[in-house]
Amino acid sequence: RAEVVINGSSSPAVVDRSNESIKHNIQPASSKWRHNQTLSLRIRKQILKFLDAEKDISVLKGTLKPGDIIHYIFDRDSTMNVSQNLYELLPRTSPLKNKHFGTCAIVGNSGVLLNSGCGQEIDAHSFVIRCNLAPVQEYARDVGLKTDLVTMNPSVIQRAFEDLVNATWREKLLQRLHSLNGSILWIPAFMARGGKERVEWVNELILKHHVNVRTAYPSLRLLHAVRGYWLTNKVHIKRPTTGLLMYTLATRFCNQIYLYGFWPFPLDQNQKPVKYHYYDSLKYGYTSQASPHTMPLEFKALKSLHEQGALKLTVGQCD
Ligand code: CTP
Repeated sequence: RAEVVINGSSSPAVVDRSNESIKHNIQPASSKWRHNQTLSLRIRKQILKFLDAEKDISVLKGTLKPGDIIHYIFDRDSTMNVSQNLYELLPRTSPLKNKHFGTCAIVGNSGVLLNSGCGQEIDAHSFVIRCNLAPVQEYARDVGLKTDLVTMNPSVIQRAFEDLVNATWREKLLQRLHSLNGSILWIPAFMARGGKERVEWVNELILKHHVNVRTAYPSLRLLHAVRGYWLTNKVHIKRPTTGLLMYTLATRFCNQIYLYGFWPFPLDQNQKPVKYHYYDSLKYGYTSQASPHTMPLEFKALKSLHEQGALKLTVGQCD
């Protein structure tokens, strides 16, 4: 069969934004869940028709040179120049070249992780992906510490590091970057205008302080390719979230994929309030029409894949 049934039927996805239809359905971590190897392989194969994570995870040095002009993917009329620093930090070969892992964790940033006790379980996976430089030290019991790849939307510099207004914030960011200790730092630099300076600041810090990270800047076609894959499977997302991008990429190099911290709803399964992020006081924005994301719809697709054994979603406590 050519099509993976992500929405449980062959009819077009119904955009269901209500918490009601979803909240009681995910089984506790301890209940039986079986990995469906055949389905996982079929999904990998299908996604490979749209993108190849090994290549699309980053633009490589050989393909750009300083001064090249890039049109932002979501703001085609705006452009940026490839700076010398950005060029320096482009990898020569894919950081995922020939990589294969038994199990991977993708850690989303939902407050559902608080009091989950999932830290140890997350750290036990062979490859751990985190999003948007989310802090780990203070939350290790619930989110773990191991980080093999972490994403950083340019907006994080504004949201979590006060746009580096003074030496204290610059130092904070520097410490966070040093703590990455050789992992992959994935910066979507070419997605949307407005982040250019922030990306440049980070690039400069990394080079100036010889920070030990492997930088990666996703390919120009990645976003549309990921969207294309999900649209083909009747998941009508506006712009894929970082979390969904990571899952889509991970299918290429991870045998089994475990998702934690994916819960785009204000109440948990027991009707208790859930923070949007486990680490800050940002409020819910994912249901607003202005948001570029359709998180509840993404969640519905992920939940369906969980039920079919293609991935495992943990939305409560770990054993
Ligand atoms: N997430 C979730 N439920 C939440 C918060 C986040 O499922 N309450 C998932 C989403 O897939 C999101 C990822 O965790 O992409 C990382 O969270 P965050 O850093 O908040 O991402 P955003 O900045 O909100 O969105 P993006 O980076 O995707 O633009």
